[in-house]
Amino acid sequence: MFLQHDSTPGPSLRPDGSGISPGDWDVLSRFWFPIAEVVEVGAAPFKARLLDVDLVVFRGANGLAVARDRCPHRHVRLSGGQVEDGQIICPYHALAFDETGQCTRIPAVGPDARIPRNYRVETFPVQVRYGLVWTCLVPDPDRDLPVFPDLVDSRPEDVVFIKTRDWPVSSARQVENFFDIGHLPVVHGATLGGKPSDPVAAGKVTHQKDSVTLVAVYVETPFGGAPRPCEYTYRIVLPFAIDFTVRDGTGHDMRLYDIASPTSAHACRVFQFMKDTRHVDEHHRALIEGLDHVNLEDIGILAGMTQDDIPLNARHEIHLQVDNIAHAYRERLRGLGLGGAPVQDRDWALTEARTEPLENV
Ligand SMILES: [Fe+2]
Repeated sequence: MFLQHDSTPGPSLRPDGSGISPGDWDVLSRFWFPIAEVVEVGAAPFKARLLDVDLVVFRGANGLAVARDRCPHRHVRLSGGQVEDGQIICPYHALAFDETGQCTRIPAVGPDARIPRNYRVETFPVQVRYGLVWTCLVPDPDRDLPVFPDLVDSRPEDVVFIKTRDWPVSSARQVENFFDIGHLPVVHGATLGGKPSDPVAAGKVTHQKDSVTLVAVYVETPFGGAPRPCEYTYRIVLPFAIDFTVRDGTGHDMRLYDIASPTSAHACRVFQFMKDTRHVDEHHRALIEGLDHVNLEDIGILAGMTQDDIPLNARHEIHLQVDNIAHAYRERLRGLGLGGAPVQDRDWALTEARTEPLENV
């Protein structure tokens, strides 16, 4: 009922009730994550969440701004207010905050009142890339956004999105689902083709400095057509982004990006997008709709998962040969210090992952 009188106001952004452990939260808070498509942020404030921290995105006088979604006066959500002249206005007492977070107007004390410098709402770094609004919860991020060479100079209008959805699983579970070739003929027979009895061969896994890559061959039979062997390349940029390429031998590679932004311990907002080739024709529209069907098939399976926290200790689950990529990915997550593991300051560049059976890892 009462906040304890001797508690320290705001020593950490991490909410007390967060399901993300303090150690994992500290590691992840140093990464950039997308919290909105640029086109989602219009004249009104946009409500977002990252690592259990409620955020508001708004159009400031000089560009997009990301602030904590709570007025420092009486903790009402700023996202319930409005934006006027590049400032966000609290819906409760109409305090105004500029894009740096400074309070600039308090109607109740009159227009000439001197407003203290510490009357501020916390704001966070912002970058706009790949048609997305990115932020980081530490003031001086020491990491870069994931680099997707094919899209690095793109403008928001150069990117076409598959429907952005909230998934009821952790970011790491979503990422693993995306690169899990073993489930394709079982779950996606109706969309990608294949049948549950089909064997699936493991691909080759390699490590790079900030990523781990799987190259595998999968035989697609989409919509009952002729079998089509495809080379799938998944470059997983740590911790939760994937640059995925499908080569089917026709010279028309499909390239799809997937980013699972961690809203909380067991939920993520998934942004999937492709480069807009300027001819979003019927084929493209069918492809985008088909990919959304694939997502819905996955959500149907994952929503019933019985272990929401992903184990980073291999003994907590059994593993198949095709899980060599999951094994390598979890090794890299541990290397970041997630799951309570010690941080590994190791040079991963261009090392090959183990490919032997995983029974005793
Ligand atoms: Fe799937």
